[in-house]
Amino acid sequence: MEVIALGSDHAAFQLKENIKEYLAGLGYQVRDFGTTGPDSVDYPDYGIAVGEAVSHGECDRGIVLCGTGIGISISANKVKGIRAAACSEPFSARLSREHNNSNVLALGSRIVAPEYARCIVKTWLDALFLGGRHALRIQKIAQYESGDPGK
Ligand code: RB5
Repeated sequence: MEVIALGSDHAAFQLKENIKEYLAGLGYQVRDFGTTGPDSVDYPDYGIAVGEAVSHGECDRGIVLCGTGIGISISANKVKGIRAAACSEPFSARLSREHNNSNVLALGSRIVAPEYARCIVKTWLDALFLGGRHALRIQKIAQYESGDPGK
């Protein structure tokens, strides 16, 4: 079973705990990178920590959460090799896997209710990258990220 890295700021602490319990119930191994309570923290610390765990191969995929899912997804996306997708419904979550091979899912605790967040997570976990023409596009992103603008 895959190892899932989890991280959130204070705004999404409760939703992170909810998703952690859900993942454990599904049989996933979870590595929690914090935060550990409702006190105010900075979302980049957690987005980057999760991104690095995935990028270095310590975890297979990651889920990051903040108030909107935006700040923490921007942070995770600064880590090389990370393709974090902020999703507020299951259709985008599925396509972020099938077309974009997202390796981090970002959720907003002020955007999605807990039960709906679980639905988005399950859809994302179960979806597979389709490869083919999509792989070429992912490769172009990786090439640019490696310092080669490809032009
Ligand atoms: C924290 O108040 C909030 O800014 C953060 O959780 C997130 O929504 C940022 O994108």
